[in-house]
Amino acid sequence: MKHLSLGAFAAATLAVLTAGAAVAQAPASPAPAKVEAGPACADCHDEAKIFANNPHMRGYRAAHGGAAGIAVCATCHGDGAKHMEAGGDKTLIKTLHGRTGAETCVTCHKQSAERSSFKTGVHASSEAVNCLSCHAIHKSDPKQASLLVSAPTKLCATCHQDAASSFRTFPYAHRLKEGALSCVSCHDPHGRSYKHAVKETRAGEPGCVSCHAEVRGPFIFTHVNGVAGDCTSCHVPHGSSYPHQLQRATIAAQCLECHSTLSSGTLGSQPPSFHNISLPRYRNCTTCHVAVHGSQRSPQLLK
Ligand code: HEC
Ligand code: HEC
Ligand code: HEC
Ligand code: HEC
Ligand code: HEC
Ligand code: HEC
Ligand code: HEC
Ligand code: HEC
Ligand code: HEC
Ligand code: HEC
Repeated sequence: MKHLSLGAFAAATLAVLTAGAAVAQAPASPAPAKVEAGPACADCHDEAKIFANNPHMRGYRAAHGGAAGIAVCATCHGDGAKHMEAGGDKTLIKTLHGRTGAETCVTCHKQSAERSSFKTGVHASSEAVNCLSCHAIHKSDPKQASLLVSAPTKLCATCHQDAASSFRTFPYAHRLKEGALSCVSCHDPHGRSYKHAVKETRAGEPGCVSCHAEVRGPFIFTHVNGVAGDCTSCHVPHGSSYPHQLQRATIAAQCLECHSTLSSGTLGSQPPSFHNISLPRYRNCTTCHVAVHGSQRSPQLLK
């Protein structure tokens, strides 16, 4: 867990522990293995029995050493002593469903990567979406890391059907269903609404180049970054009807979108007059301009 200091965990748990005298008595050592995951809670709740491998148990142990007992439950649910005394009165424990549960998460999970935030990311600003839409503390899919409810692409598809289905319906698309990529290969689920929460490299390049290193450069004669926009000027990230996931049906149409007097967008130079576009030979621009993503040797991107 790179973005969270154990200090924060310790402080949060300490606050809970000092508030509840009963749990504060949780033994620090020695630690009989069966005390792990809280025998008292486990008497009545299966959630406690399967908690030993939860990252929150590991985190608690790392911060406090030794056994966690029921104290780890208290870090989120608050002191459970009265709840237990009453034989399980639901009103005497924090239930943590929905938005209330999510508010508890951000007491510890404060910091995230640059351009992403647990508090102000695309999925935090809406009432309908919060931490517990995607993460489950007790009922996560055991095959997934990060306590996810289900595998990322399936999870995202529950709300973003259009995006998910376009990968299936377009003939030229990244093959998400084979599992090599998922929605989070390109998106940061905690990202801010900066460019649709699309991941970027540390240097601020499109995240695409972390897989497609061959188009990365740096090139002496640049064509993509800052010249012809970015990858999405020519490619459709969620899939396209056209080869190479291009925005346009043909290479010529793609190039002439900018390299033509009829261009509406970014203006590129005019192809010199020997380019007779009415001849098929000239329409497949990349047979000659092979270095369409940039070149070390040719200002005309010919090699
Ligand atoms: C990291 C925070 C956290 C910790 C630690 C934690 N829980 Fe929970 N627990 C939750 C949240 C959040 C929910 C609500 C889940 C939901 O609504 O989807 C929950 C729900 C429950 C439920 C209700 C069952 C359900 O799935 O709705 C029980 C019972 C429970 N927890 C017991 C425990 C016990 C016992 C421990 C200690 C072994 C524990 N919890 C530790 C966050 C935590
Ligand atoms: C004597 C049995 C018993 C013990 C011990 C016990 N509980 Fe419960 N707990 C219950 C019962 C019964 C309910 C109510 C279940 C219901 O109404 O669906 C409940 C409800 C809960 C809920 C709310 C579940 C929900 O539906 O949202 C949480 C959270 C919870 N317990 C946590 C704990 C924790 C943490 C401990 C240990 C500190 C603990 N319980 C110990 C019996 C117990
Ligand atoms: C009391 C502080 C605390 C609270 C509250 C808390 N967490 Fe955590 N969480 C941690 C710590 C510490 C770790 C790191 C455990 C480790 O290093 O393995 C962690 C780990 C995680 C991980 C796994 C990270 C990974 O890299 O696999 C997820 C996911 C997570 N927490 C989500 C949640 C959610 C969702 C909630 C709210 C229901 C929540 N946490 C509440 C302290 C907390
Ligand atoms: C839209 C779904 C979604 C929501 C909402 C969400 N997460 Fe996540 N979270 C994910 C996915 C997916 C991953 C795994 C990312 C990966 O593997 O690249 C993850 C990873 C994590 C991790 C481990 C890696 C990291 O970034 O530190 C933590 C901790 C975490 N989430 C906490 C939270 C908390 C706290 C909230 C609520 C403020 C939250 N998440 C809301 C989907 C979500
Ligand atoms: C190959 C990288 C890549 C993958 C995989 C990917 N996206 Fe995207 N997505 C992008 C880019 C880039 C944009 C921004 C498009 C733009 O600027 O026009 C975007 C935009 C979006 C948007 C906002 C615009 C819109 O179309 O509504 C959503 C929502 C979205 N993606 C969800 C998803 C989901 C859900 C998945 C998985 C099914 C997914 N994406 C997979 C790269 C990707
Ligand atoms: C519980 C429903 C839900 C789930 C699950 C979910 N999202 Fe979202 N997502 C939303 C909502 C609501 C918004 C904000 C409203 C909007 O812009 O569409 C949003 C916004 C986004 C955006 C920004 C859209 C934009 O126009 O900038 C992206 C990208 C995105 N989600 C990707 C994902 C990915 C990737 C996953 C899976 C890890 C995921 N979502 C899971 C509901 C969800
Ligand atoms: C100016 C338009 C344009 C831009 C911008 C662009 N591409 Fe391309 N890309 C193409 C064309 C055209 C092809 C097909 C090349 C051919 O016909 O051989 C292609 C092919 C590809 C291929 C297939 C393998 C190859 O090298 O031929 C990959 C992968 C690719 N692009 C990734 C990217 C990425 C990643 C970015 C952003 C860094 C990007 N492209 C930006 C036009 C562009
Ligand atoms: C996680 C790694 C990964 C990321 C991130 C990624 N790609 Fe890809 N991309 C692949 C793989 C693997 C293939 C080939 C297999 C396939 O089709 O899924 C591919 C195929 C392509 C192709 C088709 C190549 C051809 O020969 O026709 C294009 C174009 C492309 N990607 C562009 C992009 C763009 C643009 C982005 C960013 C928006 C991006 N990719 C992000 C891994 C990635
Ligand atoms: C999004 C707009 C855009 C698209 C699409 C585009 N270009 Fe460019 N291209 C430019 C810009 C802007 C320059 C920078 C030089 C200039 O000012 O004209 C450039 C430069 C070039 C150059 C270098 C010669 C020069 O004038 O510096 C060649 C050759 C070239 N592009 C060929 C192509 C080919 C082939 C395609 C199609 C695969 C293509 N371009 C697609 C915008 C674009
Ligand atoms: C048969 C090979 C060939 C094809 C096909 C071709 N070009 Fe060229 N192109 C060239 C050569 C060679 C040059 C360099 C001419 C020079 O240096 O005077 C050039 C130069 C250019 C330039 C740069 C002009 C400048 O100011 O330096 C642009 C822009 C261009 N081509 C665009 C295109 C587009 C768009 C297509 C497809 C519609 C295309 N080319 C197809 C061979 C080709």
